[in-house]
Amino acid sequence: MDFRGAHIISVQQFQRSDVERIFSVADSMEPFARRKQVSKALDGAILGNMFFEPSTRTRVSFGCAFNMLGGHVRETAEAGASSITKGESLYDTARVISGYSDIIVMRHPRAGSVAEFAEASRVPVINGGDGVNEHPSQALLDLYTIRKELESRQRNIDGMRIGMVGDLKHGRTVHSLSRLLRLYRDITFNLISPKQLRMTAEIVSELRQAGHTVIETEDMARGLHDNDTIYLTRIQEERFASRLEADVYRGRFRLNQAIYTRHCQPNTVIMHPMPRDTRAEANELDEDLNQHPNLAIFRQADNGVLVRMALFALVLDVVDQAPRQVQEAGWYTGRRFE
Ligand code: NCD
Repeated sequence: MDFRGAHIISVQQFQRSDVERIFSVADSMEPFARRKQVSKALDGAILGNMFFEPSTRTRVSFGCAFNMLGGHVRETAEAGASSITKGESLYDTARVISGYSDIIVMRHPRAGSVAEFAEASRVPVINGGDGVNEHPSQALLDLYTIRKELESRQRNIDGMRIGMVGDLKHGRTVHSLSRLLRLYRDITFNLISPKQLRMTAEIVSELRQAGHTVIETEDMARGLHDNDTIYLTRIQEERFASRLEADVYRGRFRLNQAIYTRHCQPNTVIMHPMPRDTRAEANELDEDLNQHPNLAIFRQADNGVLVRMALFALVLDVVDQAPRQVQEAGWYTGRRFE
């Protein structure tokens, strides 16, 4: 695809070669993300970071990625603080904010809202998560992480086995990641969830049609047994009618040191898009795994900056300029990579 000026709304826009292009640009962003250098390639450019739903990692890492390329960030962090609460339409908001920014990242609780917003925008829009639908930048950083983790274990994405655990119905990260993996060959998906929270039938059938193996189970021990990567998810409480309804499923599928040792292959990579729900009644990924070498969740979150820098550089067409317009980082950066 031609990235220049494109909206990034869904992983379904990508071919495998596009994903590989993003990953190679992400690799080239390492010196900036490791705080060795700061690029000035986007000096003067403005990101409109529009978040109408809670976010920590996605919002901050998009903002930092833009800063690391020398650009400035303006943001709306809550729907309550914007004119959306005064009845303003997405169309009007998009027309106006795109007049102030060079690119926009947007998150919104309604599926399809970011595509609608992009249609009215005069600048490129990147989807930071639209309800239960998609989260393309998360899927890219997840796959980028999987690739790196598996390569260090002499494996690759083609032919891999992934266990996805938890709320597969409402989790937009697993929707986008599955659709991105569809572009690869011979993947085995072990989908572990309560029956009521199964992966959408449409995605399961897309995966099967593309020649992948999909096994759905409620039996966690069985589903965990044979994977290169396991990807845990939080029960998406905000998508349920009430907290009580979410409580029915909370805590049913958990991973901790004992379960991992008993049921997983010794080299299985552990991932989670975060936030993990650490409340006792949920605790889908126990903190007793924090020191485990196969726990990749913090490397995964770090990789978000690289992938988001790559998206900005490609869409705003500064890939070649980024390594040229640099400044050495003059401040203390010592403890960061201990
Ligand atoms: C996810 C999201 O918002 O979909 N978080 C994230 O962006 N890393 C997952 C979640 O909230 O459970």
